[in-house]
Amino acid sequence: MTEPVLDVHLKPEDAAHALRADVRAGLTADPKWVSPKWFYDAVGSALFEDITRLPEYYPTRAEREVLADRASEIAETTGAHALVELGSGSSEKTRLLLSALREHGTLQEFVPQDVSVSALTEAAHAIMADYPGLRVHGVVGDFTQHLSLLPGESPRVVAFLGGTIGNLIPDEREKFFRTVRDVLQPGEWLLLGTDLVKDPETLVRAYDDAQGVTAEFNRNVLNVLNREVGGDFDVDAFEHVALWNAEQEWIEMRLRAKRAMRVTLAELGLTVEFREGEELRTEVSAKFREEGVRQELEDGGFALHRWWTDAEGRFAVSLAQAI
Ligand code: AVJ
Repeated sequence: MTEPVLDVHLKPEDAAHALRADVRAGLTADPKWVSPKWFYDAVGSALFEDITRLPEYYPTRAEREVLADRASEIAETTGAHALVELGSGSSEKTRLLLSALREHGTLQEFVPQDVSVSALTEAAHAIMADYPGLRVHGVVGDFTQHLSLLPGESPRVVAFLGGTIGNLIPDEREKFFRTVRDVLQPGEWLLLGTDLVKDPETLVRAYDDAQGVTAEFNRNVLNVLNREVGGDFDVDAFEHVALWNAEQEWIEMRLRAKRAMRVTLAELGLTVEFREGEELRTEVSAKFREEGVRQELEDGGFALHRWWTDAEGRFAVSLAQAI
């Protein structure tokens, strides 16, 4: 079999450098924070896959329902020659789009983008095996930084699914939309998955499941810090917190110190103190409304063309066109 083409914009040493800078900034801030970017080591990625199968975690299933219903409409509307997927991970839901676009007869190339070389290589091989003749051109990079040289023949659809846009705060989202817009030509497309505002109980349960898988996923970020920057976090001394911030309309995940402690990050030459009950913010997962998404897209240079939700109205997929 031919090998997938892989452009590497983010080398392992760049990623290591980014993690160090980020951890130093977050752990010396008040209140303390760690970026959700660092959840996804091998263990964290596997735990996230488990989360997507939990009864309480509806976003994955709701988004899959929309894509299954609308994939052929997306293919007809866009006539895409290339599908670019940002933060592609395992590329599972992407197959719904790839199949519809292949059937429509326009698709020539798939461009998955991810920070992980291994995830990307694996996904690229699996897709090439299942879609003979499809060119696969992977891009290793951070979607907030390495969009400038997006391959693929016009018209392209850039898909950013799963609700991952919610991990960005409003300022970062604005920058993200403009960056994507700048690499597209007028008339090209953005396909965006957003989880929607709903009753707080449903939201909190999705991030604080009965089996404790999300708690384990959250605490695992401390294992990542212990390994990557020589930390000595006592992972069991932190408890999982998920709360709804009604003002910002986002879910926050935090880790609460069960006792006072001092943590050393040897490779950063850094010591941090935690008070008993002190909370470290590990993730923001924003929830959206149609008017807000329309406005953010417009501010970024896109026109909202279609807005689809699952039957229960929990999750939306937007198809927007670069102006
Ligand atoms: C992968 C960012 C979309 O915010 O719902 C799942 C990550 N965090 N459970 C989300 C996550 C806790 C997820 N995203």
